[in-house]
Amino acid sequence: MSVAANTKTITPPEISARKGKTPLVCLTAYTTPVARLVDPHCDVVLVGDSVGMVLHGLPTTLGVTLDMMIMHGKAVRRGLERALMVVDMPFGSYEENPEQGFRNAARVMAETGCTAVKLEGGEAMAATIHFLTGRGIPVMAHVGLTPQAVNTFGGYRVQGRGEDAESVRRDALAVAAAGAFAVVLEKVPEPLARRITEEIAVPTIGIGASAACNGQILVVDDMLGLFGDFRPKFVKRYAELSKDADAAIATYAQEVKERRFPAAEHVFGDATKSVKGGQAA
Ligand code: KIV
Repeated sequence: MSVAANTKTITPPEISARKGKTPLVCLTAYTTPVARLVDPHCDVVLVGDSVGMVLHGLPTTLGVTLDMMIMHGKAVRRGLERALMVVDMPFGSYEENPEQGFRNAARVMAETGCTAVKLEGGEAMAATIHFLTGRGIPVMAHVGLTPQAVNTFGGYRVQGRGEDAESVRRDALAVAAAGAFAVVLEKVPEPLARRITEEIAVPTIGIGASAACNGQILVVDDMLGLFGDFRPKFVKRYAELSKDADAAIATYAQEVKERRFPAAEHVFGDATKSVKGGQAA
C-alpha cells in the first residue's frame, strides 16, 4: 500500500528555492533499475506519462491510465533515495474539475509514495492547481507544448511563436500564481523562455526551451539513445544504447547458432559431482 515519506529526499520547497542558483537536473524514469541509475545525479525524477509511448508502444500519451502511472510510480519509488519524485497525472484524470484532480492525485501519492504530481495546462488548470496545493498536494505545472493536447495543437509544434507568445506567458504566470512549485516549459522559443523565467518566482524546467530556464528535463530513454530513431532537435544523445544492444543481441544470436555460447565457463559440472557435493558445481 502506501510508502512512508522519506525525509532525506529533496522537497518541493527546496526545488523552488533553487531558482537563480545551480540549474536543476531532472530526468524521467519508469522502472526501478533506471530510477537507481538517475537518482544520484538528479534533483527531480519524473515518472512521465511518456511511459506510454516509450515503454508501451502507444502512439501518443492519451492512452495512458492512472493504473499504469501508479504501477510505474511504485517501481520508481523503490529505486529512489535522494531525488524528488514527481508522477504525471494522465489525460482524463484531472481536467474535469478540481475535485476529480484532487481525488486522483491523492490516490497517486498514497499508492506510489511520490512527493508531488505534474499536470499539463495553463490558465485553464490554475483553479485545480490552487485546489491541490491548498490541500497538501505539491504540483509541478507544464505549459507550452503539452503533449496531452496534441490533437488540439494539430501536432508537436513549438508553442509561443509570434502572437502566441502572450498566451504561453499568461499560462506560465497563472500556474505559478496558483501555487505550482516549478513549471515545465516544453518546446518554447528561447526569448519567451527567458522572459517567463525572469517573470515567475518559481523555477522553470525546460525541455526544448533553452538554457535560459532554471533547470532541464529530458526523457531518459531519448538521451540514452534507447528510443529508436526519435531525434528531436532538443534532445542531445549522450549514449547510443539501442545500437549497443542491437550489436550485443546480434553477437548472441550468432554465437548460439555456431554453438560458441554457452562456453565451458557457463556450464555446470557433471551430475555425480553435484549429488556428492550437495550443490551444483
Ligand atoms: O511525460 C514526460 O516525460 C514529460 C516530459 C516533460 C519529460 O512530461
